[in-house]
Amino acid sequence: MNLDIALLAGDGIGPEVIDQAVKVCNAIATKYNHNINWKPALTGAAAIDAVGEPYPDETHEICASSDAVLFGAIGHPRFDNDPSAKVRPEQGLLKMRKKLGLFANVRPTFTFPSLIDKSPLKRERIEGTDLIILRELTGGIYFGERGRKDDGETAFDTCTYTRAEVVRIAKKGFELAMTRDKRLCCVDKANVLESSRLWRETFQRMEKDYPEVTVSYEFVDAVAMRLVQWPNSYDVMVTMNLFGDILTDEASVISGSMGLMPSASVGDKIGLYEPIHGSYPQAAGKDIANPLATVLSAAMMLEDFKLTEEAAAIRAVVNKSLDAGIVTEDLSEGGKSYKTSEVGDWLAANI
Ligand code: IPM
Ligand code: MN
Repeated sequence: MNLDIALLAGDGIGPEVIDQAVKVCNAIATKYNHNINWKPALTGAAAIDAVGEPYPDETHEICASSDAVLFGAIGHPRFDNDPSAKVRPEQGLLKMRKKLGLFANVRPTFTFPSLIDKSPLKRERIEGTDLIILRELTGGIYFGERGRKDDGETAFDTCTYTRAEVVRIAKKGFELAMTRDKRLCCVDKANVLESSRLWRETFQRMEKDYPEVTVSYEFVDAVAMRLVQWPNSYDVMVTMNLFGDILTDEASVISGSMGLMPSASVGDKIGLYEPIHGSYPQAAGKDIANPLATVLSAAMMLEDFKLTEEAAAIRAVVNKSLDAGIVTEDLSEGGKSYKTSEVGDWLAANI
């Protein structure tokens, strides 16, 4: 297969973890006779520094003309404590999601057998966890009307959803559930919010089209609790942009390290694959960040190209590295740890 992949390393540890995913994919390409053409492009603070814009048109053109986007991380501390900054790296990510039509964010949470005791949660709570949070990604409060009243003392952000937006994400959720355990949980706040009532009503109407799927409806506050009490009770969860942002960070601790969980953002055409962690600026340039979330994101990418065997080979080598203790310092618990680049080399050599 010939693949053009836009490579957006971004900020902080982004370039370091992306490098390892590229090594692993190149090893896969050699072994399985594929040709991957990597197309690097600027994004985030790096792009602001270079051209004054976090998602430049040139980057968009590279992404839009590729088969997929592999993304590192975005964000820089110099913007975080400056509420007056007009241009922010995160705006690049939001613009990219919108312009590429990436309305569905697939964030899986699963456990690794050899890391089960690294989780802050008890083994019996998390064993067997295999859930997906499907987060709506191009609507809701992230993209609603916002602003300040004239006096500057009142600020507002609004959460708007159209029926069509809910239908298309719900459809993805039902379809995903059909490929798995056929259980779907609609996560909302329908006891308070009108937009949530539209969600719930839409899911209820669609239930009849998927008679095999068992649908449950839960309020987001209760889910926040149950997600850490009984994560293994969930299969597919579908929720709106902001709730999904919060719940996926919460879910990421289940596996033992935020550096482990991958994600895919998909829509009408091309997909974007990225680790769910951020740019971890404290670790930037130190070669210590865990590259596995990015490597596993590359596996999700290959899976979406129906390269099932190749994706499985990546997951297998990741498990092998964990079993062999070839881990970065977030997982070494004071024992021997390996550099980001060493983990990448090991994975590529063992494909
Ligand atoms: C994420 C991130 C982004 C989000 C930020 C960086 C804009 O937290 O992908 O979860 O809030 O969506
Ligand atoms: Mn987030």
